[in-house]
Amino acid sequence: MLSSEHLALQKIQQQPEPTVHVDAFLYDEDFIDSLCEEGKLSRYYCMVCGSHQTAPLGFISHSFSLMELKFIYHHVLPDLSGKVLVDVGSRLGIVLYGGYLYSSASQLYGVELNGDFCQLQEMVIKKYQFTDRIKVLHADICTQGSLLQNADVIIMNNVFEYFLNEAEQARAWEYISHNVRKQGSLLVTVPSLEDSLSGLQVNIQLSPWVEEVPLNYDVYPEKDIDREALEQIHLYKIL
Ligand SMILES: C[S@@+](CC[C@H](N)C(=O)[O-])C[C@H]1O[C@@H](n2cnc3c(N)ncnc32)[C@H](O)[C@@H]1O
Repeated sequence: MLSSEHLALQKIQQQPEPTVHVDAFLYDEDFIDSLCEEGKLSRYYCMVCGSHQTAPLGFISHSFSLMELKFIYHHVLPDLSGKVLVDVGSRLGIVLYGGYLYSSASQLYGVELNGDFCQLQEMVIKKYQFTDRIKVLHADICTQGSLLQNADVIIMNNVFEYFLNEAEQARAWEYISHNVRKQGSLLVTVPSLEDSLSGLQVNIQLSPWVEEVPLNYDVYPEKDIDREALEQIHLYKIL
C-alpha cells in the first residue's frame, strides 16, 4: 500500500481485529508461508498486547491418538488370541480399552504409578464391563518383575521421559531390560529404544536383547494422517 492512501490505511486500522494488508497478486500463499517461516510476517497476533511476534505452540500428548491405537492393533501387532499384554504407564487406559475392542488378547494389564489415573481407569472398566479381560495395577513398573517376565506384548508409550528424572529413568530402563526377556515376546515403544536410552547413563546392549521389526507406515493413504506420529512407533522382538 502507499502511504498516500490515507483512508484505506485508516480503514484497515479500524478493523475489529488487528489486520495487515497483503497483496494477493504480489504474494501468493506459498510466499506468505515462507515469509512466516522466516519470521518476516506473522499470521497471528498476541491477544493481550497485539504483538505480531508470535510463534506456534508445540503440542504433546501423553496418550496415543485413536489413529495410533488402530495402527498398533490392526497393523503392528499379530493376532493376540490367548496372549497377555501389558501397558506400562496406562494413564487413561486407552491402550487397554483399544486392546479389548480391537484384539483378542486374553488379558490386558495396565500398570500406572498415579493413583488418580488408576481410579479413572477402574471407573471406565466397570462402566463398559471390560472387567473380564482388563486389570489395572496401581504400582511402579519396577515392582512388577513377574508380570513383565510373563507378558507376550509390552507397550511403552513415552512412559518415563516426562515423569521421572534421568537417574530414575535409567533405573527403570535397566529394570525393563532385565525383566522383558521372554523369547519371542513383542515390545512396542514410542519413541525408538535408541532415542529413549540416548542421554541416559545405562548399560543396555540392544543387539543381544531385541531385534527391530520393520513396520509399514504407508497403510493409511489418506493425506491428513499424521505420518510423523506413526513413524515414532517401533516394534521389537525379544531375542
Ligand atoms: C505418556 S503416558 C502413556 C499413556 C498410555 N500408555 C498411552 O499410550 O496412551 C505415561 C504414563 O506412565 C506413567 N508412569 C511413569 N513412570 C511410571 C512407572 N515407573 N511405573 C508405572 N507408571 C509410570 C505416568 O504416570 C503416565 O501416566
